Amino acid sequence: MNQLLTTLFALGVACATTFAHAQAPAAPATAAASTAGANPAIAPAAGSTPQAGAKTIEAKVAMCIGCHGIPGYQASFPEVHRVPMISGQSAKYIAAALSAYKNGDRKHPTMRGIAASLSEQDINDIANFYGNHVKKTAPDSVGREPRAQIAELLKKGNCASCHGANYSKPIDPSYPKIAGQHADYLFVALKAYKQDTNPVTGRTNGVMGAIAKQFSNAELKALSNYLASLPGEMAVQPESRFR
Ligand code: HEC
Ligand code: HEC
Repeated sequence: MNQLLTTLFALGVACATTFAHAQAPAAPATAAASTAGANPAIAPAAGSTPQAGAKTIEAKVAMCIGCHGIPGYQASFPEVHRVPMISGQSAKYIAAALSAYKNGDRKHPTMRGIAASLSEQDINDIANFYGNHVKKTAPDSVGREPRAQIAELLKKGNCASCHGANYSKPIDPSYPKIAGQHADYLFVALKAYKQDTNPVTGRTNGVMGAIAKQFSNAELKALSNYLASLPGEMAVQPESRFR
């Protein structure tokens, strides 16, 4: 092992990566190993400590890629819908969402299990990584004028007052960008705020709970379809881009 250390290029990094895998039983070993194998010179991400045993950002997001990094990837709980785009979402919102799964405000079982395994440091590193993962800028003006019925719903919920210009410039970085997000996911999310007491599908959020409850599911679906049709700043960054 000592001899290897002196001869192999970037072994320190590879070693740290391998060690990190040993610490991360939930990460799919094959995906993580091939990431490291194809790119042995990955530097530890900003914010993570470059000491032996520190997890690289690649190791931290290895298990996320399997769902969030595959275009069109669908989840089947609580109904079939595409998993949300997180590349290009606001970093502060990603961190807030992961904390909400971790502390149980968001009940979704899979994401709760995943978030529970993340430290505060992991959450911040991952949020910064995905927040800067793609650079797309949504136009300031509304991309597509809503039909009168939709305009009425948007006005009733005052959606732009928080989600901002074109629903892509939230007034607070801990609020989500929602323009261009998958319609079926937006619909699931909005219903989750309505069912805030449901122990497996609910989301407890003071702000969005009160708003979502003002609308029928048909209205929430119409809002979701419109918001998804707008140009947004998020994307699915395919797995191959990591390699
Ligand atoms: C097995 C598939 C799967 C894996 C693996 C996975 N996610 Fe998720 N993720 C989902 C699904 C499905 C949702 C939607 C949950 C809901 O309805 O609240 C979600 C939601 C999220 C959200 C909330 C998005 C939003 O717009 O509010 C974030 C942030 C997130 N995941 C980050 C991650 C990170 C970071 C990882 C890796 C550490 C990860 N996910 C791993 C399937 C997955
Ligand atoms: C007073 C501010 C405010 C208003 C008004 C508001 N929202 Fe929100 N919205 C938020 C915040 C804050 C969150 C994040 C909640 C959380 O952490 O789960 C959010 C979350 C969401 C989400 C979940 C996004 C995701 O990626 O999971 C959707 C969808 C959404 N809002 C749509 C709407 C729509 C549609 C309207 C108008 C009918 C609206 N919001 C009005 C503040 C607001």
